[in-house]
Amino acid sequence: MSSGFPLSLTTDPVADSERAAILADPGFGRYFTDHMATAVWTRDSGWQDRGIRPLEPFTLHPSAAVLHYAQEIFEGLKAYRHADGSVWLFRPEANARRFARSARRMTLPELPEDDFLTSVEELVRADEAWVPASDGEESLYIRPFMFASEAFLGVRSAERVTYSVIASPAGPYFASGVTGVALWVTSQYSRSAEGGTGAAKCGGNYAASLAAQNEAREHGCDQVMYLDSSGKSTLEESGTMNLCLVTSDGQLVTPALGRILEGVTRDTVLALAEDVGLTPVERTITLDELRAGASDGTITEVFAAGTAAVITPIVRFRGEGYDFAVGNGGPGKQTLTLRELVLNIQYGRVEDKHGWMRRVL
Ligand SMILES: Cc1ncc(COP(=O)(O)O)c(C=O)c1O
Repeated sequence: MSSGFPLSLTTDPVADSERAAILADPGFGRYFTDHMATAVWTRDSGWQDRGIRPLEPFTLHPSAAVLHYAQEIFEGLKAYRHADGSVWLFRPEANARRFARSARRMTLPELPEDDFLTSVEELVRADEAWVPASDGEESLYIRPFMFASEAFLGVRSAERVTYSVIASPAGPYFASGVTGVALWVTSQYSRSAEGGTGAAKCGGNYAASLAAQNEAREHGCDQVMYLDSSGKSTLEESGTMNLCLVTSDGQLVTPALGRILEGVTRDTVLALAEDVGLTPVERTITLDELRAGASDGTITEVFAAGTAAVITPIVRFRGEGYDFAVGNGGPGKQTLTLRELVLNIQYGRVEDKHGWMRRVL
């Protein structure tokens, strides 16, 4: 295996009993494994100091550019344990490519795809004990990220950048089965604009989304739904998930790329649509069309797609002056079928016809 990220083992790992207690109820994003991957880039010397080392805090100068101008990007993917004990990643190459696209938009250096894959794989190998067992829907969530670590207050592309990967055991997103969530359609906030950073996975997008997320909660909704910034008439995406509709004539419709994040799960669902008898369509969808379709039954199901929650049924939409249910107000049949199919591929319970799984251990 690649030795591009050599391992320095921790001398102070979390005790077996403590790790077992964490894995029994990991939640999401609360606990971290024993190691981290790191590498540093400088304009003069390129990528260097690659390694897997004990998890520890960063030391940053208070003028580090990321703290002021948010030059930062990240990724999110998962490692899954199969019934035979082996450990696999799902389409990590797609995350590596999106990481490079995000880097270009934020004028960060592109990390070679091989470094992305090697750092993730070596971290999972070092922290194998943290990959939950194959029963249930647990996985090891992996967070690669990159930020401007140069100490300099000028507004320009940083000349020193830090790359890192951390990992966190994750439980099933739904505490009590797949019930479905309500989305608040915000007419006050936008997520992206033409020429903006909507297609990049950069931290600033998420900082800007928090007010909209709070607005959604104030209206009793679980998540926010964004419209286009100029006309506030077409559907874009949810806070951390892409949107998909199922129509009564057998189409799976999702907003076209451009200002939205190109989700790996979105792409997966489009590729699997025909296997469940749906025709995949990428196009503009208006809010009016959604409201009319939910009312006359031509839109039968809506769901959101993303790594954290796989496929989330959307059963209700609320906005200024309206509130409507989709279908019968519960999770749709096609939604649940697609969700099961994606999970079965990820956990190795069905044949991986698309060659999406990459074995790590
Ligand atoms: C804004 C946004 N849209 C969509 C997604 C879904 O992307 P993926 O399926 O790659 O997790 C995410 C999660 O990464 C996201 O943050």
